[in-house]
Amino acid sequence: MFDLNQFLIISILMFVIFLAVGGVVWNTNQRLYKGLNRISWIVMIGQLATVFALIILARTSDDFLFMFYISRIMLYGAAASLGFIIPGSILRTKLNKAYSDKGYLKDWYDKTRVYLIKNNWTEKMIDSITKSKVVHLHKIKEPKQSIIYSIGSNRGETEKEIYLLLKEKYNVKMICTDAYYEDVTNKTKTFEDFIYLEGNRPGEDIEDILSEILVRNVDVIIDKKACLWYSKKVNLEDVFRKYHRSLSLNGVIIIDAEEISFLRTQLNNLFYQLANRIVGSAERSTYSKIKNTISKSSFINEHYSCHFVGHGVYRTAIFRKVK
Ligand SMILES: C[S@@+](CC[C@H](N)C(=O)[O-])C[C@H]1O[C@@H](n2cnc3c(N)ncnc32)[C@H](O)[C@@H]1O
Repeated sequence: MFDLNQFLIISILMFVIFLAVGGVVWNTNQRLYKGLNRISWIVMIGQLATVFALIILARTSDDFLFMFYISRIMLYGAAASLGFIIPGSILRTKLNKAYSDKGYLKDWYDKTRVYLIKNNWTEKMIDSITKSKVVHLHKIKEPKQSIIYSIGSNRGETEKEIYLLLKEKYNVKMICTDAYYEDVTNKTKTFEDFIYLEGNRPGEDIEDILSEILVRNVDVIIDKKACLWYSKKVNLEDVFRKYHRSLSLNGVIIIDAEEISFLRTQLNNLFYQLANRIVGSAERSTYSKIKNTISKSSFINEHYSCHFVGHGVYRTAIFRKVK
């Protein structure tokens, strides 16, 4: 009655066909792929859960055959979903492509900016940071200038806003960088003390970059959903070490630490991938992503003090260099 060979052949066939379909959809329309990919995860988990439920039910049911056929169809579906998910999981790590014109994150920056502007994000965030006294910036009349270094600036529009707000009261210079500078379009142009450094400049290379531009230390490093967000657990402490060597004493790293549930971000992400609109953060904050690794790192805990400033969408985590 049960032909194991036939079952395996059909499962493998489904898997291979959807692997190919996934590869083609990914290469032609990464954004659409991402949405379908999420649905595939949900479908696969649902199918496997149904199979288990059916196995349990089959013990009590008379219609064992019917349940058996349904389980088989469910397992074919799960094999297909798994095949579809694989190409994206492999190819999505190519960030230069992801943020380029063909990438699934192509619109992320602009759509997120609309959301941030609607919420007055930069203004409220800067207001709470300057009031908090955790960050020290030189006043406008002081001869010394505070240097702010932004990692993963993308178009650099938020950085321009930050610079324009701060320069009303403080003597600041803003340096923008991005690891995939060459692929980012419509970057903000350099003006006054707002500088966008040319060339691909990963956060991990901060020390070399600073020595190239003859800057010894910076006072503020902004890493908003950029280098730290993308760092693998094993590299994270290393990046904190590099930032530590690049900061002046009492200098700070500012990262986003929005208070939002994981489920909410996933739903926002699904909506973004399918409808191309950001209705709320579509991924977790940098802080939420790295907090477990941070808590285990004696280097980070000994060399930085951590402070939270602001609430909800405006919350940031500030790591202050203490020794
Ligand atoms: C999600 S976007 C965030 C852009 C901007 N910081 C913001 O919050 O609006 C991530 C940016 O980080 C850049 N990026 C990714 N890995 C990086 C790294 N290791 N160093 C510097 N930039 C990186 C990407 O090119 C991209 O522009």
